[in-house]
Amino acid sequence: MKPEQKSRRELPLAARRRDAVDADPLVDELRPGQSVELLKELHILTRDGKLNQDSRRKLKQVYHLVQFIEKCLQELPREPERTLTLADHGAGKSYLGFILYDLLFKAIENSRIFGIETRAELVQKSRALADRLGFHRMSFVNLSVAEATASDELPTQIDVVTALHACDTATDDAIAFGLEKVAQVMVLVPCCQAEIARSLNANKALNLRRTPLAELWRHPLHTREIGSQLTNVLRCLYLQAHGYQVTVTELVGWEHSMKNELIIARRVKKPDRVAAQRLKDLLGEFGLTELLHTRFTLPQDNAHSVPMNS
Ligand SMILES: C[S@@+](CC[C@H](N)C(=O)[O-])C[C@H]1O[C@@H](n2cnc3c(N)ncnc32)[C@H](O)[C@@H]1O
Repeated sequence: MKPEQKSRRELPLAARRRDAVDADPLVDELRPGQSVELLKELHILTRDGKLNQDSRRKLKQVYHLVQFIEKCLQELPREPERTLTLADHGAGKSYLGFILYDLLFKAIENSRIFGIETRAELVQKSRALADRLGFHRMSFVNLSVAEATASDELPTQIDVVTALHACDTATDDAIAFGLEKVAQVMVLVPCCQAEIARSLNANKALNLRRTPLAELWRHPLHTREIGSQLTNVLRCLYLQAHGYQVTVTELVGWEHSMKNELIIARRVKKPDRVAAQRLKDLLGEFGLTELLHTRFTLPQDNAHSVPMNS
């Protein structure tokens, strides 16, 4: 049998991989007008136009996110004379920003995307790539998310906030940024966050005497797990308390990423007082009331009632 006549099962693994890539539905999904050059520059496609297997997972996540964001953009009331703005937090190599620009923002003349990233070399590379591709309505700022909130490199109002795996508390800073900039939509896929687990740990002995609930975080592994779960629950209540309607789903199947929780918050301008009370009560139950003064400050009219168990 000639080599090219070998059945698929007989092909060496590398050849089988190449074979699978040729038929990859993600490559087939390229939209009309989508820049193949961009995908090569981002090393999502190899120089000969094949899908780079290492980037496959990232591309799948980004495509999913783009679909959610596209739907959110369609729902936004648009005033054509106002610039549509999106800020991506913890942008990294700016996969998300570039693909959003290429697929959606490129066609919206009065629009702008900002990438916020602390690593100077990534910011430089993203600027150079945007220049090369003629993506002139993309800007990259070399700031932390927390610094970006007060920076005059960004407009006072931002319509859409995104944060894809922004490390640790950068997601919380992105939420604070979104509230300050009166964002219409926030699309968040949080990374691991250690702050709440640290606080749970700090008060562990006291809480074990106070409540059987503290058994949930007695062991360090459980402290991390419950800390991570609690963090996202608190973020959702916090957003609701500040007038956002929140949905929580999976971004892609869990086989693709462990950091897979997608939180979409749409501004409905109606602060949810019940959510605010729940947030306070939950912080009280977990012995975390101090976070009401730091991470989870509430709108004024909800700020004064006393949390349960504090
Ligand atoms: C896990 S990477 C994700 C990058 C990108 N969003 C993606 O999904 O490909 C997190 C990025 O956030 C950046 N970062 C971490 N903390 C940050 C902060 N406080 N402000 C801005 N960027 C931050 C890191 O330098 C890193 O590039």
